[in-house]
Amino acid sequence: MNPLLDIKNLSVTVGCQADAKSILDNVSFSVGKGRIMALVGPSGSGKTTAGMAILRLLDQALIVRSGEVLFENEDILAVPAQRMRRVRGAQIAMVFQEPLDAFDPLFTIGQQIDEVLAAHTDLSSQERHERVLEVLSQVQLPQPGRVVRRYPHQLSGGQRQRVLIAQSIACRPKLLIADEPTSNLDVVAQAGIMDVLRALKNRAGVSIILITHDLGMVAHIADDAVVLCEGRVVEAGPIGDLMTNPRHPYTQAMVEVFR
Ligand SMILES: Nc1ncnc2c1ncn2[C@@H]1O[C@H](COP(=O)(O)OP(=O)(O)OP(=O)(O)O)[C@@H](O)[C@H]1O
Ligand SMILES: [Mg+2]
Repeated sequence: MNPLLDIKNLSVTVGCQADAKSILDNVSFSVGKGRIMALVGPSGSGKTTAGMAILRLLDQALIVRSGEVLFENEDILAVPAQRMRRVRGAQIAMVFQEPLDAFDPLFTIGQQIDEVLAAHTDLSSQERHERVLEVLSQVQLPQPGRVVRRYPHQLSGGQRQRVLIAQSIACRPKLLIADEPTSNLDVVAQAGIMDVLRALKNRAGVSIILITHDLGMVAHIADDAVVLCEGRVVEAGPIGDLMTNPRHPYTQAMVEVFR
């Protein structure tokens, strides 16, 4: 079966001079349907860049030099911008690394999720309202009817992270890219987010790219992992193999800490 996402030989540099600094060097990996793929690696190894490149949201300074990003067999690096806007959000969604910036403090949670639905779907306002409540309960927030009326600052960090996931899945994307979704949370809130991601995979069949440093999280919920170091894939495979027989020194060190 073809994977949902297949990245082939993706290279990204800072600027486009001949001696430009390489950020991603010939990166290839794929994400199967309904699987959670962990993208791990040290800080600065290119994880966020890979996520942004998939969505074509790279900073202007970063240039895709070569490669393909096949989503359902279509190279989305090559489609017109207008089509890409439809893929983004509705087919592939991303939960970004810095959640506080992600909210507008002047609008309620309900309004912010509704806005995404209004932009990407033809649902009526009543249908959108129902969908907002539905996704808030999907991310296991109690009393969605009250959460919709809250402003971002009235929620805890863990609750805000759930809302971000709710917002990103509102349009039923097939692929969710979650960039460090638990990095600022305590262990209880982290476990809650893991539950949410697992349920999304199991109940809604969403494929997930989970970007994280947290090997505990990877070991618990990922099916596969890709290890990036200095912009290169140094190891990839089913998570069980990686945990029992890590080959690259970074992976070995990571697994050692976890043991
Ligand atoms: N706009 C930019 N201009 C120049 N260099 C950049 C830019 N964005 C990222 N980089 C560089 O690209 C490299 C990869 O950055 P990236 O944010 O993808 O790393 P990361 O693996 O997500 O790290 P972290 O775990 O800290 O989030 C880093 O060396 C970073 O300094
Ligand atoms: Mg990052």
